[in-house]
Amino acid sequence: MSDTRVAIALADGTAADVGAVDRVMQAAFDPRFGEAWTPAQCLGMLSLPGVWLTLAHLDDRLVGFALTRAVADDAELLLIAVLPDQRGRGVGRALLRRAIDDAAARGAVRLCLEMRAGNDATRLYASEGFAKCGERRNYYAGRGGERFDAHTYVRPIPGK
Ligand SMILES: CC(C)(COP(=O)(O)OP(=O)(O)OC[C@H]1O[C@@H](n2cnc3c(N)ncnc32)[C@H](O)[C@@H]1OP(=O)(O)O)[C@@H](O)C(=O)NCCC(=O)NCCS
Repeated sequence: MSDTRVAIALADGTAADVGAVDRVMQAAFDPRFGEAWTPAQCLGMLSLPGVWLTLAHLDDRLVGFALTRAVADDAELLLIAVLPDQRGRGVGRALLRRAIDDAAARGAVRLCLEMRAGNDATRLYASEGFAKCGERRNYYAGRGGERFDAHTYVRPIPGK
């Protein structure tokens, strides 16, 4: 049975955290699907205005992160990941809710995300108010050359 009484510490991250984030990234994303970003891609994205990194720690251990971008009134959840052995403890939901709150604080009226079709994370997104709004055929390129569709989801952020 999973322990739901864990103390999840959320904090803003910086470019200095990208090395630690990459260890979570490589463990979290199945290499078959080609979803993980490289450290260089993360650093490049973080250098852009309106992009922020959120870190999740359990017992001082980095167990998850989210990378989010807000431009004008649009926000996008670029990445969210939790270490496989730390899943099911509420870390993903806590990161997602923080991304929603941060996007709201930055003036966004919606938060979008894109993920591989069939990803189990769909359940998390649906339970947090996201609805499917589009499809991109053959968007992800897997290691073996296979292609995977992407599905786009959006969640309105109510005004203050
Ligand atoms: C998606 C992800 C971040 C969720 O992290 P998590 O810490 O396990 O999420 P939570 O513990 O907060 O679970 C939230 C809900 O999502 C559902 N869920 C999450 N991951 C699931 C999975 N792999 N299979 C089935 N259900 C899942 C659960 O039903 C859970 O609901 P509950 O709390 O009512 O039981 C994690 O599975 C992950 O890192 N996946 C790989 C990376 C990825 O695909 N990211 C999304 C695309 S960018």
